[in-house]
Amino acid sequence: MPLLIKTGDNMNLVIAGYGFVGKAHHKVLKSHYDISIVDPAINDKLVSDYDADMLIISVATPQRDDGACDMKHVFEVLRDTHSNIPVLIKSTISLEGWDQIRKDFPKHKITFSPEYLRAATAEIDFVNTKSLEFGGDNAKLWMDVMHKVFPDAKFKELDPRVLILNKYARNSFLATKVSWFNQLHDLCEAYNVDYQAVADIVSSDHRIGLSHTDVTPNRGFGGHCFPKDTSALIHTAKNQNVDMSVLIEAVEYNNKIRS
Ligand SMILES: NC(=O)c1ccc[n+]([C@@H]2O[C@H](COP(=O)([O-])OP(=O)(O)OC[C@H]3O[C@@H](n4cnc5c(N)ncnc54)[C@H](O)[C@@H]3O)[C@@H](O)[C@H]2O)c1
Repeated sequence: MPLLIKTGDNMNLVIAGYGFVGKAHHKVLKSHYDISIVDPAINDKLVSDYDADMLIISVATPQRDDGACDMKHVFEVLRDTHSNIPVLIKSTISLEGWDQIRKDFPKHKITFSPEYLRAATAEIDFVNTKSLEFGGDNAKLWMDVMHKVFPDAKFKELDPRVLILNKYARNSFLATKVSWFNQLHDLCEAYNVDYQAVADIVSSDHRIGLSHTDVTPNRGFGGHCFPKDTSALIHTAKNQNVDMSVLIEAVEYNNKIRS
């Protein structure tokens, strides 16, 4: 199927969703591509208003009332996108949502690539991208697009459903690690043992690592992604009656201690 890709540097790349992820992409990609933005928070443009060659979707995917990943903004953007335009989804999306996308947009050429940047250091994290994974219809094409921007990065093609679950698994594992170290902290306090000294030596084991061992004054985990992503994974597991009791307990404990 012919793609609407221009060669050369005048390719028009639309970014839908101009938050942490969209802004970081804009900042880095703008020296390589012509970029247009679609985001109701900053303009009233739609993807269909632009002569788009490619589209990156980085819209919000918040927590629905029932705990699932709310993908309504992803669907809004896809409905307004011609099926000839290659789409890269950088938003965090659920397995059920991906399956629905494939059903609702069978002609669209859609690739998923998980994003790992942190909100607090979004642009620096993105500039320092060392590896990127792609899965879906046009993985090779998006690797070419990103290779121009990150010539030294490593690229991998994988099943999109593997990549989707991988993103939730990472955030859920790290959230569980935070809960675990908060409990270890309380055990140390109860026995008058220096928590930091314990955490330092435990985390010096390379199998465990230092990240997510801090016990902050707010206690537990919060932020932009861990609460909604843990909730979404629990919802996905419940849909298939899969036991996710370790993660459920980590989240319930977090809700108790988090101020
Ligand atoms: N923030 C992070 O650290 C981080 C890291 C990795 C992945 N992600 C994922 O990336 C996605 C975006 O996260 P973010 O932190 O940039 O979100 P954000 O809330 O900062 O920004 C999302 C933007 O999407 C816009 N939007 C909503 N509906 C839209 C529509 N129909 N068309 C165009 N724009 C629309 C909103 O106005 C908002 O500006 C989420 O799925 C998130 O889970 C975020």
